[in-house]
Amino acid sequence: MKIAVLPGDGIGPEIMAQALRVLDVFKKEGMAIETEQGMLGGGAVDATGSPYPEATQKLARESDAVLLGAVGGPQWDNLPRPQRPERGLLGIRKDLNLFANLRPAILYPELANASSLKPEIVSGLDILIVRELTGDIYFGEPRGISVEDGKRVGRNTMIYNEDEIRRIGRVAFDAARKRSKKVCSIDKMNVLETTQLWRDVMIELSAEYPDVELSHMLVDNAAMQLVRNPKQFDVVVTGNIFGDILSDEASMLTGSIGMLPSASLDENNKGMYEPSHGSAPDIAGKNLANPLATILSVAMMMRYTFNDEASATRIETAVKKVLADGLRTGDIYEPGTKKVSCSEMGDAVVAAL
Ligand code: IPM
Ligand code: MG
Repeated sequence: MKIAVLPGDGIGPEIMAQALRVLDVFKKEGMAIETEQGMLGGGAVDATGSPYPEATQKLARESDAVLLGAVGGPQWDNLPRPQRPERGLLGIRKDLNLFANLRPAILYPELANASSLKPEIVSGLDILIVRELTGDIYFGEPRGISVEDGKRVGRNTMIYNEDEIRRIGRVAFDAARKRSKKVCSIDKMNVLETTQLWRDVMIELSAEYPDVELSHMLVDNAAMQLVRNPKQFDVVVTGNIFGDILSDEASMLTGSIGMLPSASLDENNKGMYEPSHGSAPDIAGKNLANPLATILSVAMMMRYTFNDEASATRIETAVKKVLADGLRTGDIYEPGTKKVSCSEMGDAVVAAL
């Protein structure tokens, strides 16, 4: 199993270091894992002029999976758009055809008080957001800023074809079959034709999944329902831009975005695994970051790309154990628990494994 390791910027290297220690436990036990490091994001721009350099493209294409820390930081915000770290992230998603982004929002019982919502609203929360990742207004053409009739005009294009909708729909229905068999598809069909097609295709597809209950919700209502009664959701499927926004909202229901892993998969379950949070430049290099989302991303890699449910569960159980033991990084700390650093959290997970 060849894994491309891309630590990235900000807290990326420190959280990645802890995830690699977790992988080392499996390596020492004899699992055939080979890792190779590469550059992505701001550091890559500084070193090579490109946020997704050719060497990284080659490495990513020939690997079975990619493990990513985080990219970006204020020092790169004013670069021309093609050189921005975010472009590296969008570039690798598109290049590897990682169209299916799975973002679980799970509330660990120990963290019920870390949520900004009342514990009774969020306790037991277990939502899977399935976000389409290589289409929509993120990639649609035409796009750009131009001058028309003496005025500057900004333009992006929201576009999906039916094949793109169907393949992400299948990912959602298949995932629901392994859960509580409910899919809620999010659109804005009352205004946007692209999403009328989205809803039509989801309805057609649901005929192939009679055992899964399909419902629909408009995105504005979904944003409200996520904070009003989030436990009504099981699998949520939506397009790239709505999924970007709703997944950040859902993450906060769980108390800390620092806990949430994600997987981005192609048709063959090759995947890129990364924490849902960003590069947190304000705490970078201080050994304060929460490495659990990255460690849980390793668990998702075991599950989805390596088809190794036992190792995935083992990592998740180790994380639950350190939380039950009262260890907390700053983002999830509350009085009565023990505040630990990023590397101490890594120590504890390795010991629990
Ligand atoms: C995410 C991020 C990215 C996105 C940015 C950094 C380009 O917000 O993964 O959700 O918009 O997809
Ligand atoms: Mg986002």
